[in-house]
Amino acid sequence: MKTLTITKPDDLHLHVRNGAILKTVMPHTARQFARAIIMPNLKPPVTTVAQALAYREEILQAVPAELDFTPLMTLYLTGSTSVDEIKKAAASEYIHAFKLYPAGATTNSDSGVADIKAIFPLLATLEKYDLPLLIHGEVTDDACDIFDRERVFIDTSLADIADNFPGLRIVVEHLTTTEAVQFVQAAGANIAATITPQHLLFNRNAILAGGIRPHHYCLPIIKRESHRLTLVEAATSGNPKFFLGTDSAPHLTSLKETACGCAGCYSAHAALELYAEAFEQADALDKLEGFASFYGADFYRLPRNTGTVTLEKTAWTVPPEYGENGSTITPLKANEELRWKLND
Ligand code: DOR
Ligand code: ZN
Repeated sequence: MKTLTITKPDDLHLHVRNGAILKTVMPHTARQFARAIIMPNLKPPVTTVAQALAYREEILQAVPAELDFTPLMTLYLTGSTSVDEIKKAAASEYIHAFKLYPAGATTNSDSGVADIKAIFPLLATLEKYDLPLLIHGEVTDDACDIFDRERVFIDTSLADIADNFPGLRIVVEHLTTTEAVQFVQAAGANIAATITPQHLLFNRNAILAGGIRPHHYCLPIIKRESHRLTLVEAATSGNPKFFLGTDSAPHLTSLKETACGCAGCYSAHAALELYAEAFEQADALDKLEGFASFYGADFYRLPRNTGTVTLEKTAWTVPPEYGENGSTITPLKANEELRWKLND
């Protein structure tokens, strides 16, 4: 049987929520990854070190006893984040980055930043204390076509941030366009990016052709095929600027399958299997380990993990849902067959 063994990977962009959903999803991620960068867009958002440390404890409580998993915490940057909080974050061994959401760009981003220029003094502080800035790169202008929002953000805001803070480490999260890939490739070594499994495996037909499929709806929205091909090329290129970040974003099935469904794909149940499919299709399985296990850790200046995980070429069918009756989550590729399976 064909197998693939790689160094234990990290997920550099993950939503695990809190409460009941956290208990459902945490075992999935802890089985696949040694560490994950935890997104702070809870209700209310995680804006202080004290909140992040409490959230970290809640996450650890949800990790099955037999698994070893380290949450890497982030803080939510707002117009009223204080310089003092940034200093505290820099001094904490548990806080690894700040997340910038343009206000209104996505799930729980109401507390995000409305005027990016106005927070330049905070970005200068992040640069000074060498804390990475993680960016949801989309404009929120209603007049901007949803398929153009990432490209326009790069031109109007990202280029400006990069020019003004040449020493700031930036992760452009969940790339979806050729323009974003080109921006990251052309930038200095301080600018890197995550790529999700859904943006490697699907183009926008997966949301809209032959019926509307809410479980493929996430933000930034999946783009046309030419963009997917560029993303696959970047992820499989061996360029250390591109690394694994699932953006696994669980929402209850009832909140996805409704007249106005939430944005987010749940992929934590089979993250490595999904990436393995994308890399195998590109005949680049030999590039998976760097993307999944080395480049993200290196960018965040964390030691590379020492254990390994093994994937087997064994077909299995993804269950229709996870979680308790009445509060279930529908995973990516529900009821569909995957070619690879992670060994326990
Ligand atoms: O689709 C998304 N879901 N994109 C995001 O940026 C946030 C995420 C969520 O938290 O649900
Ligand atoms: Zn996200």
